[in-house]
Amino acid sequence: MMIMKGRALRATATAAMLAVFGAPVMADELFYVSGAVGNAVENFKTLVKPWEEATGHTVTLVPMPASTTDQFGQYRLWLAAGATDIDLYQTDVIWAPQLAEHFVDLTEAAKDLAPQHFPSIIESQTVNGKLVALPIFTDAPALYYRKDLLEKHGKTPPKTWAELAETAKFIQDAERAEGKADLWGFVWQGNAYEGLTCNALEWVKSFGGGQIVEPDGSISINNENAAAALEAAKSWVGTISPEGVLAYQEEEARGVWQTGNAVFMRNWPYAYGLGNGDDSAVKGLFGVTTLPVGKEGDTSAATLGGWNVAVSKYSTKQEAAISLAMYLAGPEAQKQRAIAESNLPTIIALYDDADIAAAQPIIPQWKDVFLNAVPRPSAPTLGKYNEVSAKFWSAVHNTLSGNGSAAENLELLEVELTDIKGSAW
Ligand code: GLC
Repeated sequence: MMIMKGRALRATATAAMLAVFGAPVMADELFYVSGAVGNAVENFKTLVKPWEEATGHTVTLVPMPASTTDQFGQYRLWLAAGATDIDLYQTDVIWAPQLAEHFVDLTEAAKDLAPQHFPSIIESQTVNGKLVALPIFTDAPALYYRKDLLEKHGKTPPKTWAELAETAKFIQDAERAEGKADLWGFVWQGNAYEGLTCNALEWVKSFGGGQIVEPDGSISINNENAAAALEAAKSWVGTISPEGVLAYQEEEARGVWQTGNAVFMRNWPYAYGLGNGDDSAVKGLFGVTTLPVGKEGDTSAATLGGWNVAVSKYSTKQEAAISLAMYLAGPEAQKQRAIAESNLPTIIALYDDADIAAAQPIIPQWKDVFLNAVPRPSAPTLGKYNEVSAKFWSAVHNTLSGNGSAAENLELLEVELTDIKGSAW
């Protein structure tokens, strides 16, 4: 009887949602791989529950390392081997051209959903006319600052990187003198991985030093402004930022920040909701603003990030997987994710959603920031982006570690990139 009841209930719920998700032939168990940052893993069960209930399918999240670089390495191995046990991959915005051949074309399935998203984001996931992944959230970093500490010391949020360094040092010194021995001025992501490419692109671009490789494919990184940007960042290490920042990724920076031990932090919007959580030492004490510039008159640069969902060509449960991808990229899941994880939606209408604005004020505030964000050169460098980025973050990491000057390392980088490029990207 009980079983009949359960089935009957499920059948009713399923019937109600058939129009949206399509008729399930049988219940499939899907596997979804995704990096584990912030509360994403914790929230996933709640996020997918409505879809599971509506379709009768189930999905298990397979958590990956937090580093996007490590995820990429693992995904590439699985995909090259044609692994059938992973149905969906959560993919970084920069990967579309490199992984396109392994994913199902979602153009037809998403023909009504895609126009609800920002066109530039859909475009970033379209490779030779194939929609390789559906956007689930976009990303553009903020400068997080401690309102209470700035106010106490009569400072305002900095406009230039030099001002940031000065304010950070001033408050760090003053607070340490009062006994706050663990306080640091500025935390960010200095580990040798994709996150450092994001941070360093922001310094370089906001110092007028270009975008490493320009949209037309030319290699621009070996220039004086870029070198000045990297030298400025180097001067932070061991002064306003701990030496350990050279091993930090997003979560390490957030750890220092959220325990109240940093005046400033560079991080993505996911840290906003968590920073205001009940277990956070900085709850209600911080604000967000755009990243600083090199000098007055320069433009602030935020690297464009973001995540998508792709369906594996090797999945044996493609119909259910496409249904889940559509759900995760759709308005219901994006709204839940925005409220629970402070991730920026890619659906235009959600920027006018009152519930989202009330729960996570950064979201409507950040619309213009991400719309003006600087893309990494993954489009012009095509299948070679990962190599380009790895060379760039290594040159930057060497500079920050005191292993060669910025000018020397950028000169060498130019030679390496020219070699990778060959006659054409
Ligand atoms: C964030 C961004 C992603 C980027 C990564 C680097 O997750 O959304 O695009 O590659 O950070 O660490």
